[in-house]
Amino acid sequence: MSKTISIDGQAVAFSDGQTIMDAALAAGIYIPHLCHNPEFKPHGSCKLCTVKVNGRNVASCTMPAVEGQEVLSDTGELNAERLVLTQMLFVEGNHLCPGCEKSGNCQLQAVAYYLGMMSPHFNHFYPQREVDASHPDVLLDRNRCIYCELCVRASRDVDGKSVFGLSGRGIGTTLVVNSTSGRLGDTSIAATDKAMQVCPTGALLVKRRGFAVPIGDRIYDHLSIKDHLSIKEVQ
Ligand code: FES
Repeated sequence: MSKTISIDGQAVAFSDGQTIMDAALAAGIYIPHLCHNPEFKPHGSCKLCTVKVNGRNVASCTMPAVEGQEVLSDTGELNAERLVLTQMLFVEGNHLCPGCEKSGNCQLQAVAYYLGMMSPHFNHFYPQREVDASHPDVLLDRNRCIYCELCVRASRDVDGKSVFGLSGRGIGTTLVVNSTSGRLGDTSIAATDKAMQVCPTGALLVKRRGFAVPIGDRIYDHLSIKDHLSIKEVQ
């Protein structure tokens, strides 16, 4: 007999070793997330995937599923907390959606839509962050980085290049490039690298592809992130 947990009252089967997020995605249940990608080891940093398990808040991407857990996810309280986290991500960086090439394909923007974000609510920090356009094929715009470390993990674990890392703490955190000059142009990164495919925002872009798909024809112009990620990540 398969083991089950309950997510928002729905019985969900899981296997040993799966997290609550794994079980939810396998069952087509969307739990908002940004730093999680099922292809990589969970990181547990954005906290957007926080759920209540038997009354306690936990990150569902790192919490193992255990028989009998009563998980609450799609509640007014948790979605209100996720909305605040999303608003904080917006004001900590410089996320100017109307002028961003990733608009319509951006998971941060799509999560904000999903949570009904109508304004950033908090004052913008307008941090000074550097753009690195030194590579012929790849652009790094740190203004849009949310420090999910997906590019760090992909570059290290899949591409075998370890091009990226995080430096500093808190509001002083920055995405650094592993080369003597600190610039992308002096690394071996390529436009085809996995690191270039996993950025949930527009921080890492392949050059000369901007607006290849017109605004209005992009993923989240048609689908809620809830439907898109449930379809994609179940496969
Ligand atoms: Fe779980 Fe980011 S998705 S902490």
